[in-house]
Amino acid sequence: MKAVLYDRYGPPEVLRVGDRPLPTLRFREVLIRVHAASLNPKDVAVRKGRFRLLQSGPFPRSCGYDFAGVVLAVGPEVTHVGPGSEVFGMVNGMLGRTCAEYLVADADETAIKPASLSFEQAASVPLVGLTALQALRDEGTIERGDRVVINGASGGVGTMAIQIARLFGAEVTAICSSANEALATALGARHVRAYDRVRPFVGMSEVDVFFDVFGNQSIHEVHGLLSDRGRYVTTLPKLRNLLDLIGTRYAHRRAHLVIVRSNRADLEQLGRWMESGLLRPVIERVYGLSEITDAHRRMETKRVRGKLVISLAVPLAAD
Ligand SMILES: NC(=O)c1ccc[n+]([C@@H]2O[C@H](COP(=O)([O-])OP(=O)(O)OC[C@H]3O[C@@H](n4cnc5c(N)ncnc54)[C@H](OP(=O)(O)O)[C@@H]3O)[C@@H](O)[C@H]2O)c1
Repeated sequence: MKAVLYDRYGPPEVLRVGDRPLPTLRFREVLIRVHAASLNPKDVAVRKGRFRLLQSGPFPRSCGYDFAGVVLAVGPEVTHVGPGSEVFGMVNGMLGRTCAEYLVADADETAIKPASLSFEQAASVPLVGLTALQALRDEGTIERGDRVVINGASGGVGTMAIQIARLFGAEVTAICSSANEALATALGARHVRAYDRVRPFVGMSEVDVFFDVFGNQSIHEVHGLLSDRGRYVTTLPKLRNLLDLIGTRYAHRRAHLVIVRSNRADLEQLGRWMESGLLRPVIERVYGLSEITDAHRRMETKRVRGKLVISLAVPLAAD
């Protein structure tokens, strides 16, 4: 099968489309013909070797964690999908593999795709949607009426976080560049602070949940904004943030870290919201598999509006 491969850590130019053996199916797994995948900052970080101590296995390696496609076969213990089911999901683990014609995913990483969504739309959501949901619900313990700030509101996680915070009944303030103000408002932000035009925290009222999606604020920098039981949630597991988790464990205003995990119940929740039109994917551009280097270059700019999707719908020519 065709797959995106790389033979060493490095820049986007190490990526190539090559051949891989078809993956084999085990008891609780699903074999999927992938129609679309999407990119995340994790793809860039892993390709550069930033997590090399947490990875094992030989090169060549592939990339991609998000997928949408059609089930070809299921293991004997899988009952919620079968051959012909249209599915979407995210694979756990450090090594990506969804930018490929075929994929074997764990049953719990796979849910039925909302019928009203294209494969491209469905593939754009899992990793960022799960991150936003798990950050706000599990780490931020978000409640109706909470005042929530999303810092980095116009990228993959941020566009999901605005909408999901609204679905929990929160009042959202989005922080993004002025170019993306209208997008943040359209997604449901009550207030938008453009960091390239104003100092975003000046005059800001109390905050119950500060979700630092972009990762350039610590709990110390926003401490004065947090309400009595204010929660700060970050996406970045860097040392300073890990120390703050420990240091604020018994404090009123606590720091939290989200580490996204794919699971069927949460994928199904995202699917229900999307099916009923309450959560909408935001896609900047769909790339073909042969454009994977360009797509990674764009991802590296940290300027993507929503998501970059890789289409695998067109069968690729054999060598
Ligand atoms: N821990 C986890 O499990 C987990 C899961 C998912 C993601 N993450 C991490 O979370 C971060 C965000 O992920 P993502 O998918 O949302 O990334 P992304 O899509 O690449 O985010 C790009 C967005 O960042 C915004 N941005 C750039 N400079 C900014 C600034 N100075 N202040 C505020 N926003 C700024 C840009 O918006 P403007 O152009 O409008 O500024 C752009 O829309 C990444 O570091 C990623 O690795 C962690």
